[in-house]
Amino acid sequence: MNDSARRSQILTAALTQGLLHEEHSPLVAFLDWERVQLNVEHLLGAFPRGIPVLHAFAVKANPLVPVLARLGELGMGAEVASDGELSAALAAGMTPERLVFDSPAKSWGELRRALGLGAALNVDNFQELARVRSIIEESGSDSEIGIRLNPQVGAGSIAAMSTASAHSKFGVPLRDPGMREQLIEAYLASPWLRRAHTHVGSQGCPLPLIAEGVNELVRFADEVNFRAGYAQIRTLDIGGGLPVDFATDAPISAFNDYVAALAEGAPRLFSGDYEIVTEFGRSILAKHGFIATYVEYTKQVGGRRVAITHAGAQVATRTVFMPEAWPLRVEGFDSAGAPKPAAVTEIQDVAGPCCFAGDLVARGRELPVLEQGDIVALLDTGAYYASNPFHYNSLPVPPVYGIEHAGTAPEFTEIRGAVQHELQLAR
Ligand SMILES: Cc1ncc(COP(=O)(O)O)c(C=O)c1O
Repeated sequence: MNDSARRSQILTAALTQGLLHEEHSPLVAFLDWERVQLNVEHLLGAFPRGIPVLHAFAVKANPLVPVLARLGELGMGAEVASDGELSAALAAGMTPERLVFDSPAKSWGELRRALGLGAALNVDNFQELARVRSIIEESGSDSEIGIRLNPQVGAGSIAAMSTASAHSKFGVPLRDPGMREQLIEAYLASPWLRRAHTHVGSQGCPLPLIAEGVNELVRFADEVNFRAGYAQIRTLDIGGGLPVDFATDAPISAFNDYVAALAEGAPRLFSGDYEIVTEFGRSILAKHGFIATYVEYTKQVGGRRVAITHAGAQVATRTVFMPEAWPLRVEGFDSAGAPKPAAVTEIQDVAGPCCFAGDLVARGRELPVLEQGDIVALLDTGAYYASNPFHYNSLPVPPVYGIEHAGTAPEFTEIRGAVQHELQLAR
């Protein structure tokens, strides 16, 4: 069964069970657990055996507690970047030693909580380092602590996602005059700094660029350890950022390619001298989720057909505001969940419900002719989409369902119920 047929089967089952319903539930998200499990198993098998690796899922990609709990059961930890994400990971049953706290803006409260719990922490800048030092001197901590380096190796194709550019707001800029030495001295003066971290960027960063940034990290750690005269830095946190293929159906992510690129571009990473932490987000979930919504109305405007649905900027925020950087595949189904015939196509816009003209998830796209009552699926939205809603127009937050046995007889479990946002705000 191809992936489109798999989605059709899921939609048909969801319609039969009333989970997707024109009147009561016109916008729903799904996550295919079998595919997620396959993908995580692939990740766990991709790294060289014999080197301890913690794969910390980047919670920003999907902060829903049942999702984190499932990823924990599959062997992952979590990378958190706020008090809220830390709470979500703990609520999901993750223990502090499987957590990493990153953020460029950690407050005193967040630092105290993470250090008090013993979660690993990556310091972003020298001012934060001074705070961390004062907390440790005051109360001690079991946390593994590192500093985030910006290797300044350049940007990928999406500037907003590139964190190793010359002017990025993240980390200590390694190539700025005097910074490397200042950083080395900070390590030598603080024997409790046992880690170093970098995250070159997310979608749009080619693998050789990521490997180049990681290689800078390894070179830096080697230099600190040489100057210290012992293996002070023991763990390298290489971030996430494996790009996702938003153009085709690919059941698993290219973790083998990622590891091969690192073996070539940053060979000392796998020397056995360092433990490794990764922070993958989108590559874990994006391909295994989709959003389904009813076509509420259609119209012809200026000679173009427009399908008006319930999925717009509130669930596909990046796609709506940066359409060139974040295009999504759109698939049409009839009201029973059967694929629309591909023979009859037309150039169409697919719009969301939000009150601004740019609220389009597809523009001038050739698609099977969409009619009132049809269902539209937005593909590859398992990460950073329905689980991270934008609260414009007080639209309801859509329910998210996990699917077991998607390829045979789909069974659904509720990951998140629908939230009437209006009421939530009034509380
Ligand atoms: C520090 C850090 N780690 C990991 C990630 C996850 O990136 P991705 O979802 O592309 O794997 C991000 C994304 O913003 C990040 O900022």
